[in-house]
Amino acid sequence: MRIEYFENYNVMSKRAAEIVAGEVNTKNNMVLGLPTGSTPLGMYANLIEMNKKGEVDFSKITTFNLDEYYPFKRDDKNSYYKFMFDNFFGKININKEKINIPDGEAADGDIEAIKYEKKIEVCGGLDLMVLGLGANGHIGFNEPDKILTADTHVAELTKNTIEQNSRFFNSVDEVPKQAITMGIGSIMRAEKILIIITGEAKKAAFKQILEGKVTTENPATLLNLHRDVILLTDLR
Ligand code: GLP
Repeated sequence: MRIEYFENYNVMSKRAAEIVAGEVNTKNNMVLGLPTGSTPLGMYANLIEMNKKGEVDFSKITTFNLDEYYPFKRDDKNSYYKFMFDNFFGKININKEKINIPDGEAADGDIEAIKYEKKIEVCGGLDLMVLGLGANGHIGFNEPDKILTADTHVAELTKNTIEQNSRFFNSVDEVPKQAITMGIGSIMRAEKILIIITGEAKKAAFKQILEGKVTTENPATLLNLHRDVILLTDLR
């Protein structure tokens, strides 16, 4: 794992955007895995700027988002679908037909998950997967547990995650209890992984990654098993 430390969030976000743009510029029809959350917002803002200046062209890429609440309406203000269009897809020259986000409105979540995994495979797998980190070490919605699931699946959110994410909802009761998420295998099969970590709340989970041990109780520690991970952080 290559770790890069930054003075602050803005410099880190600029670097994250440069890495993504660099990959897109090397392979313009690449398959890119993308996260939601507050962490990648700076990266998306930088990529939008770079796209406007003609420094990166997204017209041929295919994207797969990590996760989506389930069951959940796409037009809900908290859907990851809406988040992605408001903060990124709606502001770049991407081919909308090449955008993939798990369908929170699917009648059967398990079937949607199987289809989603298959589609990643049919597209040739992810060239680059960008990740944020949950305070409890979750990636996507792969929550700490004794057993983790390899492929895309319907996941139960932990109490900790429901509480963390309740800041976006009127009350904790409104936070969905489930999500469709890429599995640990879907993530680990990516050629390259970029994980961005910011905020004191993530410090304990981050330190555990650095210890170089692996535990399903902190899913992000599994990244230690991948041969090409870049970790960017403004934590010390
Ligand atoms: C959510 C998402 C994760 C994300 C995490 C951290 O639960 N499912 O993919 O990494 O939150 O979010 P934030 O960056 O807002 O701290």
